[in-house]
Amino acid sequence: MLRKSLTFILLTILFSAQKPREIGIKDLFKDSFHIGVAVNAQQVSGKEPKALAVLAEHFNSLSPENGLKWEKVHPKPEEYDFEFGDAYVALGEKMKAFTIGHCLVWHQQTPNWVFEDESGKMLNKEDLISKMEDHIAVVAGRYKGKIDGWDVVNEAFNEDGSFRESKWYNVAGKDFIKAAFRKAHEVDPNAELYYNDYNVWKASKRKGILELAKEMKSEGIRVDAIGMQGHYMLGSPTLEEIEQGIIEIAEAGFKVVITELDVDVLPRPNNAQGADLNINFANSPEYNPFVNGISAEAEAKLAQRYADLFQLFHKHKDKISRVTLWGLHDGRSWLNNFPVRGRTNYPLLFDRDLKLKEGIFEKLREVAED
Ligand code: G3I
Repeated sequence: MLRKSLTFILLTILFSAQKPREIGIKDLFKDSFHIGVAVNAQQVSGKEPKALAVLAEHFNSLSPENGLKWEKVHPKPEEYDFEFGDAYVALGEKMKAFTIGHCLVWHQQTPNWVFEDESGKMLNKEDLISKMEDHIAVVAGRYKGKIDGWDVVNEAFNEDGSFRESKWYNVAGKDFIKAAFRKAHEVDPNAELYYNDYNVWKASKRKGILELAKEMKSEGIRVDAIGMQGHYMLGSPTLEEIEQGIIEIAEAGFKVVITELDVDVLPRPNNAQGADLNINFANSPEYNPFVNGISAEAEAKLAQRYADLFQLFHKHKDKISRVTLWGLHDGRSWLNNFPVRGRTNYPLLFDRDLKLKEGIFEKLREVAED
């Protein structure tokens, strides 16, 4: 009798461990916004175990973490590489996901030849814009009707709201931004178009972004939403600062998309904020405290931070159309290498074994049901 009951209990445990979860994160928020995630080549091609199943269960929007950036998709003047992009949009179609393109124009990951003529001389404004438009025509053109929304221009502003003095800006001024949006719309009139940046919660930076976005709108240029990347830390920025950003973007007449959400649990030298890839510090035990596992205290803080953020997003669901996590699991996060290389970070919703962090999920369920 005892043996029978034990067998029954064991079978029940085994069965419930294998039983697919009844609802995924996407289902919790199905009436509020899309739940997206940035994916890489191994995940898209099915080479990473469990990734495809987790994607299908929990997400209804995809972003390409690196594969559609200029240096990847257009490495040489006459050479395009669509291997990743084709597999990516095919996965998006299979999942019936809201599929994002990231990003058409950025100051990072753009080869030097883009800005130069054949003799290595800097291009003039007209030629640079024309080269940019050709790139947009080819890349956005190939995925017309398959990519639902594009990060058209990424990170063109400084923290004080002035224009970043990138090669794009130095040669073409702010017109490169306008031309990029115009071209993207011409190439795929049905795609949503976004301006995307980090630290949009900072009033000074946001002011510059919104001024330009409104100017573009008044000139008839399509801009659907402002992407607040959402590279946050446990204690900063405050919820009030993020909320102010959401409200002001909506008041300016744009949707909000949370495009690259993650929460850094590790200490940052100098409290460096945001995602400025020029910042990098040397590794040391002081800055890498959780090599053998995150502390219970930090894990609890992480769960609470995600709950607070999602509660805020849920409160403003009328303004927010998508919340995208910047990576599927902790093992793949860029935050293992920023702003200190080679650390062990825990910023996402899934751990290194692709197991959902149940503590976070339960809190998100409460938020969604609230
Ligand atoms: O693919 C090469 C590999 O061939 C090479 O051996 C290796 C050596 O370093 O580098 C690999 O490329 C790296 C790439 O990620 C893929 O892993 C690049 O060095 C590295 O710089 C690149 O970092 C990416 C970063 O953007 C720059 O493109 C991160 O993965 C990606 O998460 C990050 O994403 C950005 C968003 O696009 C824009 N907003 C900020 C966000 C975080 O920085």
